[in-house]
Amino acid sequence: MASLNETSAFYKGSDASLFWEMTICQSLSDRASPYMGALREAFTFGELLMARLYDSISLGSKPHIIEVGGGYGTLMRSILPLLPTCKVTMVELSPRFADLQRRVLSGFPLGEVIEGDIFEVLRREHLEASLLISNENIGDFPTAEGLRADEISRIVEKGVFDDSVEGRAARLISRYNLHMPDDNDPFAFNLGALEYVELLKGRAETVFLSEHSADIELGSPWSDFLTPTATGRPRRISLKGHAEYSIRFGDLESAALADGWQVERFPMLELLKVRDDAGARFMAGTECVGNERSEIIHEFLNHVKEYECLILKR
Ligand SMILES: C[S@@+](CC[C@H](N)C(=O)[O-])C[C@H]1O[C@@H](n2cnc3c(N)ncnc32)[C@H](O)[C@@H]1O
Repeated sequence: MASLNETSAFYKGSDASLFWEMTICQSLSDRASPYMGALREAFTFGELLMARLYDSISLGSKPHIIEVGGGYGTLMRSILPLLPTCKVTMVELSPRFADLQRRVLSGFPLGEVIEGDIFEVLRREHLEASLLISNENIGDFPTAEGLRADEISRIVEKGVFDDSVEGRAARLISRYNLHMPDDNDPFAFNLGALEYVELLKGRAETVFLSEHSADIELGSPWSDFLTPTATGRPRRISLKGHAEYSIRFGDLESAALADGWQVERFPMLELLKVRDDAGARFMAGTECVGNERSEIIHEFLNHVKEYECLILKR
């Protein structure tokens, strides 16, 4: 029998932030951060993200940006000064993070925080934006665990999809022609992340998504010295107080293409312009015990190598 891994109770709890692991955005929140040593040039995550987005899109003079699950509000703190005429809507499940985000937006009259689950908010409200950012949170969305290919195939053949975990997964697998494992071992499926991509149609001109990838394939120069642990299928990652899943970006890409988006898919290493010189290659491969700076860079490179990004354009 399949089940759902859900993190909403964790995030709604009052102390989610105490158990929260450091994200890439948080690690690169300040140009003085020691993690900057892994980058070719010291820029915050927000600055690097906006520079990468501007390579692909233009935002116009009065854009509306929606950020989903903005945690401490660090990304907005970094990009709002670059976009003073921008309207900002934050959608945040955790009451504590929502409060922190209200503080970040307090000097900006065109900013609001909607406290709630993004799935309910998108179904309830007619939100439409120039840009929607969902950074490091789609792995938190409900994931189906314990599916079996023969059972899903039977549902797909019948073509009747109910609201059970199997029915929801089978509908998406059928609609987007997604690949299931060749054997009949139980598998995990990014149900929430795929339903999210489906819901985003018509909600933004551009969408940015990033998360720990299940199926990243690095190219040169990164593949010369970094090897991700990608297993091909979503992998459970146990964290303090909750668990999340890595994302099969190939499935999200197929769904977005079928929904009419233009898709750009690239590793986080590229967005961050991570170093690939001899020093970085050495530190990536060696734990450098006793040298704190090198240990920090070692840890960061071997974390960031797992992450992928999608830009969806209308
Ligand atoms: C891992 S944190 C990432 C925070 C931030 N984006 C960053 O990169 O530092 C996940 C964030 O998503 C929020 N979140 C998780 N599920 C959500 C949902 N269904 N709707 C809205 N926010 C959600 C959490 O409360 C938290 O702020």
